[in-house]
Amino acid sequence: MTGKNILVGITGGIAAYKVAILVRLLVRNNNNVKVVMTPMAKHFITPLTLATLSKNPILVDFYNPENGDWNSHVDMGLWADAYVIAPATANTIAKMANGIADNLLLTTYLSAKCPVFFAPSMDLDMFKHQATQKNIQTLVERGNFVIDATSGELASGLEGKGRMAEPEIIYNSLCEYFKSDKKLSGKKVLITAGPTYEHIDPVRFIGNHSSGKMGFAIAEEFAKQGADVFLVSGPVKMQTENKKISKFDVVSAQEMYEKCIELFKTVDIAVFAAAVADYRPKSKAQNKIKKQNDDLKIELEKTPDIALNIGKIKKSSQITVGFALETDNEMENAKLKLKNKNLDLIILNSLNDKGAGFNTDTNKISIIRKDLSVLNFEIKTKTEVAKDIVEEIVRNLLSD
Ligand code: PMT
Repeated sequence: MTGKNILVGITGGIAAYKVAILVRLLVRNNNNVKVVMTPMAKHFITPLTLATLSKNPILVDFYNPENGDWNSHVDMGLWADAYVIAPATANTIAKMANGIADNLLLTTYLSAKCPVFFAPSMDLDMFKHQATQKNIQTLVERGNFVIDATSGELASGLEGKGRMAEPEIIYNSLCEYFKSDKKLSGKKVLITAGPTYEHIDPVRFIGNHSSGKMGFAIAEEFAKQGADVFLVSGPVKMQTENKKISKFDVVSAQEMYEKCIELFKTVDIAVFAAAVADYRPKSKAQNKIKKQNDDLKIELEKTPDIALNIGKIKKSSQITVGFALETDNEMENAKLKLKNKNLDLIILNSLNDKGAGFNTDTNKISIIRKDLSVLNFEIKTKTEVAKDIVEEIVRNLLSD
């Protein structure tokens, strides 16, 4: 592991002295290290030692009284590729599990967008206590990584489980994480998401119910696996989490088309999850259309088909994946779209399946390959569906 931004959080436990070795290991392997300490941790290891080893000032307070500078926990949370809290005392673990933010280490934890690792360290009875075990479980269920405590002689003189994992073990856990994270590093991916709005007049538009959830989940999964992601999104309320995602907001099919054509030249993979309007008003009224006659005719024209046009210009090294949102003749229509749009895979979701399609947190998909073989999946959360899609792209397409 090298070149990563690692934020090390130190709390007030006797194992704090060992963190000097962890910081040294990280720096020696050319990672950038910043250290945030709780006020109590300063009693166990000096900030001077850690500042010298990390080559960075140590952060303890919200605010630096000498020059009035504010230590931004938000900036630190965004800067870090990983946040490692070691030692993590029972007190800090309990606060993390309950969203308590009464020091800089904890506010940074609540702001962190990166993976968080924590290495519990405490006396055996504290470690065994139901409250501590429940708090550790809560943190793990929320996606934090625990680096398990080990058994042995404790500072109290007692023997049992509660010793912080050795610095080398903590370092190896980080290396392992970044190794498995790298499957798609260096790859660039374009993803479309959300609906498009086609304006009729200044207040009305033709749109659809797409929330962006499916496309955003795919973007997060690609980014998690190390890819650089360009996400071109129609009007949605969603926000991205991973800083490897660059989001471009568009409104109409025409804007989405132009942005995608511009970005496609540079990418390895494109996934079209947006629900793009197929037709738009031939002209947009300058002023709000007044209510007059019993009926109103709006002349529509075709929008550019992004997937279809990209299918015409794609190189053999580029992979394109489309979606088919169907209500009837599902499989047949999806296979036609796969062929006509020159896609490598198509993901079929049917509005006839409960919990699938627009604006749900779940989806039920079938993946159809170029050779027309089909993989059927159960209903799952869109996050899990995104994993299945990315896995299929990695397994079948990148291995060629
Ligand atoms: O956003 P959510 O609420 O999470 O909902 C997710 C979803 C239902 C929108 C998504 O899973 C989905 O199915 N997206 C594609 C919807 C769609 O427009 O399907 P289609 O069968 O009409 O289009 C086929 C393919 O061509 C799609 O990949 C579409 O993005 C693409 N297309 C269509 C028209 C167009 N002008 N340009 C395109 O690129």
